[in-house]
Amino acid sequence: MIIMPKKYENVADLPGVGEKTGDKLKKAGFINMMTLAAASPKELMDVASLGEGTADKVIEAARKSEDVIGFKTATEVLIKRESIGRVSTGSEDLDKLLGGGIESQSITEVFGAFGSAKTQLAHQLSVNAQLPVEEGGLGGNVLYVDSENSFRPERIKQIAESRGLDSEEILKNILVGRAYNSDHQMVLVKQAGEMIKEKNIKLLIVDSITGQFRTDYSGRGELATRQQKLNKHVKALQNLSEVYNLVVFVTNQVMSNPGLLFGDPTTAIGGHVLHHATKTRIYLRRSKAGTRICRLVDSPHLPDGECLVRITEKGIEDLEKKK
Ligand code: GTP
Ligand code: MG
Repeated sequence: MIIMPKKYENVADLPGVGEKTGDKLKKAGFINMMTLAAASPKELMDVASLGEGTADKVIEAARKSEDVIGFKTATEVLIKRESIGRVSTGSEDLDKLLGGGIESQSITEVFGAFGSAKTQLAHQLSVNAQLPVEEGGLGGNVLYVDSENSFRPERIKQIAESRGLDSEEILKNILVGRAYNSDHQMVLVKQAGEMIKEKNIKLLIVDSITGQFRTDYSGRGELATRQQKLNKHVKALQNLSEVYNLVVFVTNQVMSNPGLLFGDPTTAIGGHVLHHATKTRIYLRRSKAGTRICRLVDSPHLPDGECLVRITEKGIEDLEKKK
């Protein structure tokens, strides 16, 4: 006889949870079975004061309920990978470099000096994500976490209108959360989890991911704490990208690395923590008037390479117009 695993809809109904603990879990971002299935017992123990045994049981029940117990066949993995969405950057050359655009189910990081157009690219993607899939979009809406107060609706309007799109509609479908400090930024991402399905969100932007962490933990002795927090934050983003087939796009600043004698002496902030969590990394540099060099770095499945793009009123474009 095959025993079917019990299906749970509400977090509070899970064994050993109940309303009060259920609320604590939800507040911490564990809003459904999928997010719990991807959690570690320690996380649940921390946020909802569960005992280790209960935390283990909750995770197991959530995994069974969602049918994500353990191993999958390669065919199932392939099916999941085939559902990966890609959003166009506005430049065919850059899309090609990225294997067809910026992918869902993982985090993409763009890093570069100030003025290198990281925020411009984020604005462009906020418009493009709303296009139908056939036109390089994701057919969905956008959550934009702005930690540097650099989101500009006027720029969205300009990009949309110069591409013949209804700017009012485009603006309405971008939900902006201003992050005032690193803890607030983490809370916003937790809230995001609750909105993704309801609001048909397909793209989540964090511009920038490291800025607030760098300010809040600037002392030498605080580096370990900063990295720990940042690790939690990027893990939460990674989970969202996988659970909801979401494109997660984050920007990052650079610092100069004076220890490096040869080559480009700039490195992305965030160290190994960020480096390991982001699957695709794009390095942006200023070039001749209005152009930027985009370099794909250490991609696990694409060759390294570079291309040039232009920044115009339309947003990001190819250097030369394609026929
Ligand atoms: P930081 O956030 O300061 O680290 O920089 P960033 O990499 O986010 O730079 P951002 O995307 O803000 O790029 C700013 C640059 O984009 C400006 O220096 C301009 O060259 C260009 N830019 C911004 N808006 C427009 C525009 O409306 N038209 C054109 N043609 N270029 C623009
Ligand atoms: Mg910026």
